[in-house]
Amino acid sequence: MRVVVLTGAGISAESGVPTFRDTDGLWHGHRVEDVATPEAFEVAPMAVHRFYDARRAALAEVEPNAAHVALARLEAALGNDLLVVTQNIDDLHERAGSTRVLHMHGELLSALCCSCRSRSPWTGDLGDLPPCPRCGLTDLRPDVVWFGEVPYQMDRIYLALATADLFVAVGTSGAVYPAAGFVEHATTYGVRTLELNLKPSEVTTLFDESREGPAGRLVPDWVDELLG
Ligand code: APR
Repeated sequence: MRVVVLTGAGISAESGVPTFRDTDGLWHGHRVEDVATPEAFEVAPMAVHRFYDARRAALAEVEPNAAHVALARLEAALGNDLLVVTQNIDDLHERAGSTRVLHMHGELLSALCCSCRSRSPWTGDLGDLPPCPRCGLTDLRPDVVWFGEVPYQMDRIYLALATADLFVAVGTSGAVYPAAGFVEHATTYGVRTLELNLKPSEVTTLFDESREGPAGRLVPDWVDELLG
């Protein structure tokens, strides 16, 4: 059975990583256009760096939860037949043991050089304007996809969706495209669809089945069910 799992901020919520649109979510304290657009970086790069530097530093304080661990267990059973597509820029899937993970919105632990376009693993701050390890210029930005930019790996993702038997969306609000459109894309190809969320998403009616509850309980239960 080929499975594609799309994850959003909700899967990391129980680890203590704030979501975006829930009460106390990240976008309640920030205007998206001030920190997550190419224009914001152009006009006020230090504010953007501070925002992502704080989030990168906060990663050291959190751990994967039962939902991440369950998806790693599913990969151990299904191997190449499981693909996790995440909108999250944290590394909690990898720390739980998943290896087949596509970060469609980029990664906090990576820096992208605006001059030479190389990517470098990054754990420290970018706000103190360190040089690019490749070209030496001080032109690094967070390797994350901002509003108005094209998400990564879309060809691979659409191919995986078209050839899957099951598409599962975990902890994502369905407010941001193209990810919010994956359920329709999968349905077009006759793929069964399942939503796991604390509360119904904006696209919940498009799924064949929706289950409500915390990811830390729903995901392990669903994996148990699938592996029988
Ligand atoms: N278990 C399951 N789902 C949860 C939990 C939980 N413990 N806590 C919250 N959720 C759900 C909420 O019900 C909501 O549907 O997680 C979702 C979080 O939604 P958003 O904050 O909108 O996060 P996400 O869907 O990942 O956002 C998509 O928007 O700004 C961007 O680039 C950012 O990747 C992000 C994108």
